[in-house]
Amino acid sequence: MDYILKVLFLALLSISAQGKLLTGSFWHITDLHWDPTYKFTDGNSGSVCNSSGNRPTPQAGKYGDYVCDSPWDLISSSVHAMKDILPDPDFIIWTGDDTPHVPNEDLGEEEVLSIISNITYIIKEVFPKTKVYSALGNHDYHPKNQLPDTQSNIYEQVQNLWKDWLDPASRGTFKRGGYYTEKLLNQTGVRVLVLNTNLYYDQNKVTENIKDPADQFKWANQVLTEATKNKEKVYIVGHIPPGFFEKKRHKPWFRPEFNQQYMDLIQNYHNIIIGQFFGHHHTDSFRMFYSSSGSPINAMFLSPGVTPWKTTLPGVVDGANNPAIRVFEYNTKTLLVEDIVTYYLNLTYANIAHARWEKEYRLTEAFTVPDASPASMHQVLEQIAHENCYLQKYYTFNSVNYDLSVCNKDCRIDHVCALREVSFEAYEHCVEKEGASSTIQALITVNVALALSFWAIL
Ligand SMILES: *[C@@H]1O[C@H](CO)[C@@H](O)[C@H](O)[C@H]1NC(C)=O
Ligand SMILES: *[C@@H]1O[C@H](CO)[C@@H](O)[C@H](O)[C@H]1NC(C)=O
Ligand SMILES: *[C@@H]1O[C@H](CO)[C@@H](O)[C@H](O)[C@H]1NC(C)=O
Ligand SMILES: *[C@@H]1O[C@H](CO)[C@@H](O)[C@H](O)[C@H]1NC(C)=O
Ligand SMILES: [Zn+2]
Ligand SMILES: [Zn+2]
Repeated sequence: MDYILKVLFLALLSISAQGKLLTGSFWHITDLHWDPTYKFTDGNSGSVCNSSGNRPTPQAGKYGDYVCDSPWDLISSSVHAMKDILPDPDFIIWTGDDTPHVPNEDLGEEEVLSIISNITYIIKEVFPKTKVYSALGNHDYHPKNQLPDTQSNIYEQVQNLWKDWLDPASRGTFKRGGYYTEKLLNQTGVRVLVLNTNLYYDQNKVTENIKDPADQFKWANQVLTEATKNKEKVYIVGHIPPGFFEKKRHKPWFRPEFNQQYMDLIQNYHNIIIGQFFGHHHTDSFRMFYSSSGSPINAMFLSPGVTPWKTTLPGVVDGANNPAIRVFEYNTKTLLVEDIVTYYLNLTYANIAHARWEKEYRLTEAFTVPDASPASMHQVLEQIAHENCYLQKYYTFNSVNYDLSVCNKDCRIDHVCALREVSFEAYEHCVEKEGASSTIQALITVNVALALSFWAIL
């Protein structure tokens, strides 16, 4: 009896140890947007930062202001917080946008490169032995958004800055179009694709009439076909995501034909694409991909940014956020994302006291799901769509505890449809359908109320 118990105990121990052994973790950081003009002097004399665009900066302090891009103190604080919280990650994903939101005239090629260089330097200094998978953002170019489909000085210089992180073959494709692929940590069976989706941005005039800028789709198809043959599992990493901005109705980033091509890529290779990691929104959100029969086949994780900068995009009200960094826990063999833990800095508190990075939430706890698989993320979305308490929880996380207001009917439609539908057509259809059903619901409520009040009179 004793012996049997002992064997059972040891067996259980080894199962749980194996489970643990297969769990790895990595950091995702994005949208650091350093503003070198940020100056905080007590007494608030003169302009605090050029990225404010002359908006008032009443909350300015050592770690920044909600209308400014990041001061160096915030950049440094975020990278050191990563080191304090999880000093030895398997790798780091860094999805770009390093320069401030200022007019092109305030920057130049030199300035953009020196900003990328400083941020590269601090990441290397704090994580000297860690592999970094790094993607360019639309702000990592001069003039901004105009990333070309051919060789350029910036691609050349940046692959040189990142040479310690890149395989020789990666340096080659990066020089050609800002993208690359590698075996994940040089291991068999797992792979990373870093895409330059800035080529698909509708603000990029250089790629406007090009069918397949820098042959990136052709290349990605080849890589994924080969990966399928080799039975590899794949992560896709990029800056600008396809689909719609959840804080502004009808606002996509990609040109329509590129959005469709991206969806096709996921449809065709969803068996081996296990995760997609993007930035650009500065908010915390995710996107679902479904098969033609409607089953969840993929999830894209949009990580919140480090910059708190309140967007000037017309139609977005009070679109700032608290600075955030994020840990993904994953199965090192299957690449399944097991959990997501987001940490943040309450900027208001940091400015009046000290930089305290705290856990914001853990996905599986906050939404009571077993992991972050496509099926689980679908369940998270259903909860958000149908239960007000989950909608509100998601909405507060969306701005990293900055906007604590209530997500109303229109807000619900904006978010639910952006999360659910990446395709342009399906999104418009969702907005119509959700709008109509909420109108019907409102009508029913009014009618019931009227009927009840008649009853009361009678
Ligand atoms: C910041 O803005 C001021 C006023 O518009 C301008 O004179 C200055 O050149 C800008 N600084 C930088 C570094 O762009
Ligand atoms: C940025 O890099 C330059 C050149 O290496 C250096 O002189 C400067 O001190 C760095 N700035 C910061 C804030 O680290
Ligand atoms: C990757 O693995 C191959 C063989 O498995 C080896 O030759 C190469 O040096 C490794 N590269 C790195 C960067 O470790
Ligand atoms: C952030 O800190 C400020 C100042 O301490 C506090 O008033 C506010 O409630 C905090 N916000 C959150 C979401 O905890
Ligand atoms: Zn950005
Ligand atoms: Zn961006």
